Amino acid sequence: MALLTPMTGLSVALGLIEAQQTTLHPQVGRIFVHTLDHQSSALLPEHVAAPPTAPVTYHAHLQGHPDLPRWLRYTQRSPHQPGFLYGTARTEDRGRQVIEVVAYNRDSFDTTQQRLVLLIGDPEGPLLPYQAEFLVCSHDVEEVLPSAPASRFLTALGGLWEPGELQLLNITSALDRGGRVPLPIEGRKEGVYIKVGSASPFSTCLKMLVSSDSQARCARGQPPLLSCYDSLAPHFYVDWCNVSLVDKSVPEPADEVPIPGDGILEHDPFFCPPTEATPRDFLTDALVTLLVPLLVALLLALLLAYIMCCRREGQWKRDLATSDIQMVHHCTIRGNTEELRQMAASREVPRPLSTLPMFNVRTGERMPPSVDIAQVPLILDQH
Ligand SMILES: *[C@@H]1O[C@H](CO)[C@@H](O)[C@H](O)[C@H]1NC(C)=O
Ligand SMILES: *[C@@H]1O[C@H](CO)[C@@H](O)[C@H](O)[C@H]1NC(C)=O
Repeated sequence: MALLTPMTGLSVALGLIEAQQTTLHPQVGRIFVHTLDHQSSALLPEHVAAPPTAPVTYHAHLQGHPDLPRWLRYTQRSPHQPGFLYGTARTEDRGRQVIEVVAYNRDSFDTTQQRLVLLIGDPEGPLLPYQAEFLVCSHDVEEVLPSAPASRFLTALGGLWEPGELQLLNITSALDRGGRVPLPIEGRKEGVYIKVGSASPFSTCLKMLVSSDSQARCARGQPPLLSCYDSLAPHFYVDWCNVSLVDKSVPEPADEVPIPGDGILEHDPFFCPPTEATPRDFLTDALVTLLVPLLVALLLALLLAYIMCCRREGQWKRDLATSDIQMVHHCTIRGNTEELRQMAASREVPRPLSTLPMFNVRTGERMPPSVDIAQVPLILDQH
């Protein structure tokens, strides 16, 4: 797996921070794994030499972006174990991508920055049109990412699928594909999907696994028919019901270009247009809809008018029910109020009767005063 080894490692001094730069060459459609550990990140400058047991965590992101590119994943089981950047680039990812990795020493709180320059190119060698994916239940994703177990898987798989050189195409944790975190029981693993490609066709053994017979047995909960020796056991426990084979050797028929028609349906003997609707008379409906509410409204209006006008007992009855004293009182107040209003409206009004000195209460006769009493001092002596 030559693609896993860093090609160059040159240090670029950025002020005080030493940012290490590594160039890697992932290939489109092939698994890419980069291990982040003490050696690869050269975590600290020599004078702060960290013991290789120091717990370290990493944070990786695409330069200028907060997260990794879509095809790349990061995983690390614990700070005492290495972290992995892994994934399979797609055709649209071709080109140069710069990943910035920050390593945090959890003991000394030192951080180091590292840059991975990914030059993603097309893979060399023959096309791998025959692709098979296996669900390995006995491993976590970190356990198959290092090159040793990965190549051991390929070697073991070679026993089922020969002849031909097998290559790893994609590795995904089963958790990323809807799997569930296993119970914390010894020996239970999350599971990992491993996709393998080859230039040589599938063996009969593999083909039998996806036959309808085997699928039916799987649906009943029985193990499928495995016609050959399971060379992967006992290292890798593969769920033989979850094997999927993809044959890309036959090019998919290109989508037919739809030909636009003239927009008119051809004559179809089975097409039965709806019969013509019979004319309907809506007059009664309309009358009922309009007249009934109108009549009800009219009735209500009449009832209200009767209550308001015809059952009114009037001023006369009210006056009778009021005591005389109250009536006189009321009339006096009203008369005085009226008078005051008139006075306010015009200063020319005659003086109020009550202020005239000579005022016969009984006859209402009055004589103009010879002297305006308001001008006469109350105590004449003072004059
Ligand atoms: C690799 O597998 C993951 C998960 O199944 C999938 O999302 C991704 O598209 C695959 N990559 C390629 C290049 O097929
Ligand atoms: C195996 O595949 C079947 C359908 O193909 C699916 O229902 C089942 O959940 C899969 N098992 C696991 C463990 O992923």
